[in-house]
Amino acid sequence: MLCAGKGTRMKSEKAKVLHPILGRPLCAYPLKRALELGATHVVPVVGHQASEVEKSIRAHFPDAPLRFALQKEQRGTADAVKAAEDALKGHDGRVLILYGDVPLLRKETLQALLSAHDAAGGVLALVSTTLEDPTGYGRVIREGGKVARIVEHKDCTPEQRAVKECNAGIYSVDAAFLWKALAEIKPVNAQGEYYLTDLVEMAARQGPVGAVDADATETAGVNDKVELAARARVLQQRINEAHMRAGVSIQDPATAYIEEGITIGTDTEVGPSVSLMAGTVIGKNVTIGQGSVLTASHVADGTHIKPYSVLEEARVGERCIIGPFSRLRPATELAEEVHLGNFVETKKARIGKGSKANHLTYLGDANIGAGCNIGAGTITCNYDGVNKHLTELGDGVFIGSDSQLVAPVKVGDGGYVGAGTTVTKNVPPGSLAVSRAPQVVKEGWVAAKKARQTKVKAG
Ligand code: UD1
Ligand code: CA
Repeated sequence: MLCAGKGTRMKSEKAKVLHPILGRPLCAYPLKRALELGATHVVPVVGHQASEVEKSIRAHFPDAPLRFALQKEQRGTADAVKAAEDALKGHDGRVLILYGDVPLLRKETLQALLSAHDAAGGVLALVSTTLEDPTGYGRVIREGGKVARIVEHKDCTPEQRAVKECNAGIYSVDAAFLWKALAEIKPVNAQGEYYLTDLVEMAARQGPVGAVDADATETAGVNDKVELAARARVLQQRINEAHMRAGVSIQDPATAYIEEGITIGTDTEVGPSVSLMAGTVIGKNVTIGQGSVLTASHVADGTHIKPYSVLEEARVGERCIIGPFSRLRPATELAEEVHLGNFVETKKARIGKGSKANHLTYLGDANIGAGCNIGAGTITCNYDGVNKHLTELGDGVFIGSDSQLVAPVKVGDGGYVGAGTTVTKNVPPGSLAVSRAPQVVKEGWVAAKKARQTKVKAG
């Protein structure tokens, strides 16, 4: 997978293949396709910003059989592939050559390429695309209907320029032929580069060259940020359509942003401008309201996430009601039928079945039992400036509004905390804790005060 290019037209400090498209770097897509096809090894050929590119790829594919190859100087596509030779020593099967900046290529097309290679029975097969405007592309030159060679745009005769069948730059090549042929390629062409496309003529001399015609949207690369956005749009549409065909309702597919590889159950409804990102799993019959953003979160069947809620590494049980405007931070674990309302923030919080915190609350480092009612404005004071501490509530606990639970602290089963209480000591099961100053009532006080004020003015 060729990833050495700088991508000058991206006008960016970042290597082209690292630009994200639906949450992942560009090159993650072809790499994923290769893994899906069962590639024994994937060799990203890196050059520009080699270490950043390698780091990012490893982070996205921690378990993949990766071997990185360095192309020190960009001397052409043949030179780039040659850089992978050492990494593939001992591999005597086929080598699939992909570009790291072609994100929309489908697995089916690569499968068709391998089948075309089999069917032709030669040493090489390629993917071609028919383009109305083939300017800039290598042309697939056929003789008697058979692929004979590729000629780069800059090296074409006027007749060859009229050819609309273009080389997509994606090949399946027998390893033994590949390394031998690459050694023979010389940079004798208009650009003075080592052209990988020279392989095609060499292969055609040994046997028939297989070819698969792919749609231009699939083989399109990314050269600038306009193209990046255009490819993202196609990918988004593809992903959303697959979910809709599988029974997910998406109200506005143009604004629903669902990354690749996310599981969503049937009859789930996804509202406008919802983002479902890496590692998210959504059950059946879930409603995800407008503008919600879910990252690496699991949501079980029948849960309703109301608009503008943000979930990150959260686990939400069945039939919960979340939001609007809830924020569930990492290690939030909700059992079934939990209700969290507007401006409720949770972090490292386990909340038991049927418990409710409906308004303006922070629950951090908390274990909360089942059937609790947590009043508006309740805050777990989990941080003392140095360490984090745990708040534990048993089952059926009632916390009155505007209370603070100063951790570490426990409230036992059925405990009751009066509104406005600052809980600093454990509350045994079934007990009431209240820490308010007793209320004072002074009848007639307002009028008396006014009278005093008037006197002062007159005097
Ligand atoms: C190449 C093909 C052309 C095809 C086109 C499809 C050749 C000679 N030509 O042309 O037939 O129609 O792709 O897009 O192969 N790269 C490296 N190292 C290098 C050179 C390139 O890693 O030394 C990478 C680039 O980053 C890029 C890819 O290979 O991702 C293609 O290189 P590029 O120079 O853009 O080839 P094209 O001129 O587009
Ligand atoms: Ca190119």
